[in-house]
Amino acid sequence: MSYLRLIVGAFACFATLSAMAAETEWKLPPETAKFKPAPGSELASSSCLLCHSADYIIIQPRLKREAWQAIVVKMREKFAAPLPKDKDDAIIDYLTANYGLPAK
Ligand code: HEC
Repeated sequence: MSYLRLIVGAFACFATLSAMAAETEWKLPPETAKFKPAPGSELASSSCLLCHSADYIIIQPRLKREAWQAIVVKMREKFAAPLPKDKDDAIIDYLTANYGLPAK
């Protein structure tokens, strides 16, 4: 009955492997394409992720406040980002504090 033994053996082997696979735990790296949590990050998430990912912002070089301001204005005026003007300061402060250069 060597065939049967072979089949049983193969099956046991397969069962062990699939049990091992089932126990494997995958640890994903922390999410990178997300805004740093800080005051204003929720505003940034709700205003700046409609058309592109947070990567567009995160991968920018450290920009001065005026440069972030120009980007925010460009997003609204050229691309019609639905961002109320009275939220400008809050969002520009957030971008400068987390992805910018400190004011001199
Ligand atoms: C209505 C759609 C829309 C929204 C909302 C939007 N963007 Fe953009 N954004 C764009 C488009 C389109 C581009 C690509 C423009 C280009 O290639 O010049 C872009 C590009 C960018 C870039 C890359 C650099 C550049 O100047 O092109 C940055 C930084 C950026 N957006 C930041 C922001 C921030 C900050 C917000 C939130 C205040 C925002 N975006 C919201 C449409 C949008």
